[in-house]
Amino acid sequence: MPRVNPEPTERLLRILDADHRAALHLGGVPAAELAARFGTPCYVYDAAILRQRARLVARTLGVEVLFALKANPSLAVTAVLAGCGTGADVSSLGELLLARRAGVPPARIQFAGPGKTTEELTSAAEAGIAAIHVESAQELAALEQVGSRLGRRVSVGLRLRPGTLAGGAEPPRLRIGGADQKFGVSRSEAIDLARRVRESTNLQLVALHGYLGTQCFDARAWLGAADQLLDAADAVERAAGAELPMLNFGGGFAVGYFAGDGELDLTAVGAGLRERLSGRPQRRAVVELGRYLTAPAGVYLTRVRYTKHEDSRRVAILDGGMHHHAAAAGLGAVLRRPFPIVAAHSPRTTETVRHALCGPLCTPLDELAAEAELPELAPGDLLAVLGSGAYGMTFSHTMFSSHPTPAEVLVDGGQAFLIREPGCPTDAQRGQLLPAELAADAPRVDNPAP
Ligand SMILES: Cc1ncc(COP(=O)(O)O)c(C=O)c1O
Repeated sequence: MPRVNPEPTERLLRILDADHRAALHLGGVPAAELAARFGTPCYVYDAAILRQRARLVARTLGVEVLFALKANPSLAVTAVLAGCGTGADVSSLGELLLARRAGVPPARIQFAGPGKTTEELTSAAEAGIAAIHVESAQELAALEQVGSRLGRRVSVGLRLRPGTLAGGAEPPRLRIGGADQKFGVSRSEAIDLARRVRESTNLQLVALHGYLGTQCFDARAWLGAADQLLDAADAVERAAGAELPMLNFGGGFAVGYFAGDGELDLTAVGAGLRERLSGRPQRRAVVELGRYLTAPAGVYLTRVRYTKHEDSRRVAILDGGMHHHAAAAGLGAVLRRPFPIVAAHSPRTTETVRHALCGPLCTPLDELAAEAELPELAPGDLLAVLGSGAYGMTFSHTMFSSHPTPAEVLVDGGQAFLIREPGCPTDAQRGQLLPAELAADAPRVDNPAP
């Protein structure tokens, strides 16, 4: 029987285990060994793949690369990437603090996000990061006040909202640019804000930033947005009366998960960008990527807990599900399609039967696949959801149903490290208070507080 999702599955398997071994290996270690040691469900990331992808992008595009922490706010993952020169794109104070702890120098950190608080603006300004990208006139005024309070010139970028793409280009799957979006400012407003920065003694314009959207498969679309940024940069420079030292072209490079998904032509993006930047080599050029750097480096391991065989339908109930990996359950997608999922003992087998793969939650949404072609499953079998290194746990409803969060593991040079402790059942009560006035009963000895 044909596999439901052959192309991306094979592509991701090749990235994970170029040696084509019979059982799934992650960073050279059998997945079964990792699952036995760290328990399931768990996320596993391969450090060598993280480094390889960061270097590939930097080399091919000839620009500075930032890691968009929202894709995977893991200290260890961020530190591995920082170790090969990757900076950080942060979107909250939590991410800023994490990037600093992971060892990313402030000069390689940039902050974008439409609703930054005064505390976030202040902390970013105090840390002296490379650029705080403002997304509205009011935010610029708030940052001006922060600069005045701190008595320093704050490095500010303007986030440009990309306009309509030229005809023929395939837009990203989740579009963020466009007049109907909440992000950034229009070209004319960017020009206006550049004039205001020019008049301010507390701000210094250092960058123009743009981000078209995530899952961009078409190099022409991505380069089209780059053209808009370059064109706006010239106008902004005229308004500011000074050269912009930096352009941040955003991220959004696609990773294929679903049958029929192609691949982004990274070489074409690199050639196009180099050509466009060749006239202005003094400008610092930056991209900020999440998914492309980390998704192929990660898998979510989950075990079959029970199986049921009803009529012709086989159902496998797993120990993991949408509370850890909402994207794999299709949340946020217009069309629910199965992620690439393989059996760890036999990832490439063609002897398959069709299974529904369901998690332990009491909702029908908790289904990782309706019709996955896998070898006949039995309790205890280990499954690997591929392409899970980005927008995995961070995109999930981990509070739902009060199950513990999974462990995270990093494999590097054949060694496996626990990089996030697994949660425990009492985590669901963390921070909750039960005022004495509301307690129905005094705590009973068989029901103690955690
Ligand atoms: C401003 C910004 N930069 C970068 C990214 C990373 O996008 P991707 O993971 O598609 O590369 C995002 C994702 O939402 C974003 O909002």
